[in-house]
Amino acid sequence: MAIKTVIRQVNEHVGETVVIGSWLNNKRSSGKIQFLQLRDGTGYIQAVVVKSEVSEETWDAAKSLTQESSMYVTGVIREEPRSASGYEMTVTEVKVLHLTENYPITPKEHGVDFLMDHRHLWLRSAKQRAIMVIRAQIISAVQEFFDKNGFTLVDPPILTPTTAEGTTNLFQTKYFDEDAYLTQSGQLYLEAAAMALGKVYSFGPTFRAEKSKTRRHLIEFWMIEPEMAFVEHEESLEVQEQFMSHVVQSVLTHCKPELEAVGRDISKLENIQAPFPRITYDEAIEYLHTQGFDIPWGEDFGAPHETAIAERYEKPVFITHYPAGIKSFYMKPDPERPEVVLCADMIAPEGYGEIIGGSQRIDDPALMEERFKEHNLSMETYQWYMDIRKYGSVPHSGFGLGLERTVAWICGLDHVRETIAFPRMLYRLYP
Ligand code: 4AD
Ligand code: MG
Repeated sequence: MAIKTVIRQVNEHVGETVVIGSWLNNKRSSGKIQFLQLRDGTGYIQAVVVKSEVSEETWDAAKSLTQESSMYVTGVIREEPRSASGYEMTVTEVKVLHLTENYPITPKEHGVDFLMDHRHLWLRSAKQRAIMVIRAQIISAVQEFFDKNGFTLVDPPILTPTTAEGTTNLFQTKYFDEDAYLTQSGQLYLEAAAMALGKVYSFGPTFRAEKSKTRRHLIEFWMIEPEMAFVEHEESLEVQEQFMSHVVQSVLTHCKPELEAVGRDISKLENIQAPFPRITYDEAIEYLHTQGFDIPWGEDFGAPHETAIAERYEKPVFITHYPAGIKSFYMKPDPERPEVVLCADMIAPEGYGEIIGGSQRIDDPALMEERFKEHNLSMETYQWYMDIRKYGSVPHSGFGLGLERTVAWICGLDHVRETIAFPRMLYRLYP
């Protein structure tokens, strides 16, 4: 009886007869031998069918296979130093499950729109598979970091009555008779949870109805949001650099073959170790002026500014102390200089832009109330948020990591559309 296994585990079955459920990736033939390139989602292996050693039925079955046809293949696993995986299979039987006709994605080049329309099939390609594996490893490293450092996972709601990150990019929906919004960030709820649990984090989908069609924007993206009571701005930066180093090093440890499959320059990732450089917004503006940008103080950075700043470093860089006017209402002003806030954006190297946005939060109830008025936010819907400041207010800080931008950077992809299985982008809801 053949043992059922998967390609990733064939190393445990050298010399044994196994059966593997797989799809045909490619095929070569030389009259009396057929070489089947198989994939099963866990890896790739070459299966060799020798005419003189198999039944006519199996020989013909192998012959009938087209790209992406599915089958159970039975055979003996051999070590094969010349193959990329180190193993090969000598086939004894091929049982076809489904013969595919006219698979739309062929080894030739396809345009991006075509590939996006066929995203459900495009995912089967070696590169897309590798990206998904790396994404999963990043998530696992994120959870490992926070679980090991005393954070409790808390899940904020997705349907909310309030806005967390401004009113211009909200997805509105109905909640029975009330208006509701898809969450832009779980932060406000996490602040409340941090007062109950000390250190918390969330990992979930967030939504921004941004009319931005850039290589860094998705409409639906996943965010990791830690929030920490009794943690001040500087201390939060230390958590962030430790966290990011852990994530990158974990991918390097567990995903070497996948990083190779996406063509990543691994030496660049090996540099990513805490501490990370820090510069203030003021210093960044000054530097940009020396580089010929004529951006005035008080204006937010765009992608070209971020890239110019990041190019000076081999690690992510923190830009701190932005003007209050271009940042969110909840950020704590610098006590020495209230026109700037105790915040930082972490900018990834190599032009990948902002991957983390974070800050210390306002803990003074009077100032918080003032901010609500300035931003025309209804005190009624935010009453619960005010209560955090009313009952035992403490200094606290937190941040949000955009998962897809992080995947794009770690994989070296030029667009976030490939970082999630089914991207939601401006004007794209299919598939
Ligand atoms: O800087 P943002 O808007 O920060 C917040 O939402 C805070 N409330 C987080 C917090 O402090 N708890 O978003 C955080 C990160 C950005 O740095 C970026 O990586 C990612 O989320 N991001 C997006 N990623 C893809 N597409 C978009 N449209 C994104 N908008 C933000
Ligand atoms: Mg931001």
